[in-house]
Amino acid sequence: VRLPRVLSGIQPTADSFHLGNYLGALRQWVALQQDHEAFYCVVDLHAITVDWDPETLRRRTLVSAAQLLALGVDPARSTLFVQSHVPEHVQLSWVMESLARFGEASRMTQFKDKSQREGAAGTSVALFTYPVLQAADILLYQADRVPVGEDQRQHLELTRDLATRFNNRFGTSFRLPEAHIVQGTAKILDLQSPDKKMSKSLPPAGCIDLLDDPKVTGKKIRSAVTDTGREVVADPEGKPGVTNLLTIHSALSGRSVGDLEEHFAGRGYGDLKKELAEVVGDFVTPVRGRTQELLDDPAELQRTLAQGAARAREVAGRTVADVYDKVGF
Ligand code: ADP
Ligand code: NA
Repeated sequence: VRLPRVLSGIQPTADSFHLGNYLGALRQWVALQQDHEAFYCVVDLHAITVDWDPETLRRRTLVSAAQLLALGVDPARSTLFVQSHVPEHVQLSWVMESLARFGEASRMTQFKDKSQREGAAGTSVALFTYPVLQAADILLYQADRVPVGEDQRQHLELTRDLATRFNNRFGTSFRLPEAHIVQGTAKILDLQSPDKKMSKSLPPAGCIDLLDDPKVTGKKIRSAVTDTGREVVADPEGKPGVTNLLTIHSALSGRSVGDLEEHFAGRGYGDLKKELAEVVGDFVTPVRGRTQELLDDPAELQRTLAQGAARAREVAGRTVADVYDKVGF
């Protein structure tokens, strides 16, 4: 039997993933391996759609791959690779760009958001067309499912539209991917501004990096902004800070929020923070250690990624050969 295929990518745009990345996305990558044929990539091509430094990008690509392995992406089971190692992404992307309409690309709200800062005229053409590259990323592997958050839904729709357009005009080459809404993802808020999601673009004090020293994560948690009142109860409107800490605890400890509320009944925010610091410390310590081990042997890590790229190219190469033949190349 063919297991359903899943494709997902993450940008190497930070020196460490953070707890939001893990609880909102990467944890599901690990879980999906159980009953999917998974293709996971570090999407370095996407990382150059905004200004970049080559050495930083190179470092972050490796660190990102090492963290994925440390978190439990299993290269014996799943295909883990770096996007730029697989030239088929760009090869298919060009065909997709030729099918995509300027009007539909212009409607992508992420571009509108991202280009707002500098104005569209100053942004790269690649930032404008990156949803088309993303479509190629997905279609190359004939993915059945793509885990997507709300912000990526529109891009998956574009992917399906382009695939349908191609299939209708040239004959069926692409499987239409479905959005996979993953169970158990949590939206994690910034510890200092719990009205915003935890993000690498906010100051580090509110963001728990997976590669942080547990002493640092402990300090960040102890100084997390909490709410007025003293009871440890979940109340997203009235107590976003405390609720966020409970969400993180629950996600990492596997205990329900209700169970935790009982556990902390009659105790204060200080107790919650103290215990959460331990829970987070117990999680990040082995991830950090394993990542460091992997980075200490870059040749072995490169070999793992080369094997992943070779396996990815077997599948991607078949798709490109079929498409290039159909379009007249
Ligand atoms: P950042 O917001 O730090 O720039 P990215 O946009 O690179 O993170 O997100 C990478 C993945 O992590 C995406 O799947 C995104 O939905 C998820 N993610 C990012 N931040 C959070 C968060 N605070 N809570 C839950 N998921 C998140
Ligand atoms: Na972001």
